[in-house]
Amino acid sequence: MSDMREIRKGRRLDFTIADVNEIYDGPGGLLWEMLMGEEIHVGGERETELLAEKAGVNINTSILDVCSALGGPARHLAKKYGCKVTGLDATIKMVDEAERRTAKEGLAHLVTFRQGNALDMPFKAGSFNVVLGQDAWCYVTDKERLIQEAFRVLGHGGVIAFTDWIQTGNMTDKEWEDLNNFMAFPYMETLDGYEQLLVDSGFMIIEKEDLSEDFARNCHIYLRKLRNEFKSRIIKQYGTEMFRSVDDGLAMWVKAADEGKVGRGRLIGKKI
Ligand SMILES: C[S@@+](CC[C@H](N)C(=O)[O-])C[C@H]1O[C@@H](n2cnc3c(N)ncnc32)[C@H](O)[C@@H]1O
Repeated sequence: MSDMREIRKGRRLDFTIADVNEIYDGPGGLLWEMLMGEEIHVGGERETELLAEKAGVNINTSILDVCSALGGPARHLAKKYGCKVTGLDATIKMVDEAERRTAKEGLAHLVTFRQGNALDMPFKAGSFNVVLGQDAWCYVTDKERLIQEAFRVLGHGGVIAFTDWIQTGNMTDKEWEDLNNFMAFPYMETLDGYEQLLVDSGFMIIEKEDLSEDFARNCHIYLRKLRNEFKSRIIKQYGTEMFRSVDDGLAMWVKAADEGKVGRGRLIGKKI
């Protein structure tokens, strides 16, 4: 059996930013959009607002959304709070599509996007009041460096607020590999692991919440949607093999979520 402490010892699968780009330049982003909506995370707009409220976002806040994908959350925040949002994403197709949708909604004066790696954020120290992230940092190969970068680009008193897919229980080596492999995650953090990374980087923990029950419920919804609403469309667009592989992978995740092995967590920290 794999022990969760192994994660802290640096065990990871050999995925790099090139793999992330391949997925999101290809059908990956669109498939996830089908299942989750334009805000590609569990809970949609409601979760974005919750995170923003916990981070104290208002009209004067300057937000960096790290791994912003199609920019759904960035546009929603700008519309709801009138604040400025910068989205950072490594995949050109996601950045281009985010810019196109933002211009179409007439929000380009508030919302901008940059292509770049979360491990080397192309911004000066102290540029933002809030660093936000939703269900994406699981792709990042070095979570310690990511949190350090978030700390650097935040001003004094700035807030980091994020949700992510996490490992919540012990699993066999094969389960660990299959679950991460299907998603192209190098590894998942644990909730305690993230807390430690935040503290080590100089953040004070404001909130740490395990959202795994809700995550499991949502995994069932995605699998049902895949089978009932999108099956024929996916087969037509991408072929039977692609549909089968997504179905198998998602079913494996549903089982692991039901068994308490994978889940989702929310962390809020303050730069002190
Ligand atoms: C699940 S989507 C993010 C969803 C988005 N946060 C939302 O709520 O709509 C994952 C995104 O993370 C981006 N990504 C993954 N690793 C990255 C990295 N190291 N730096 C920047 N972006 C990255 C991918 O390009 C992809 O667009």
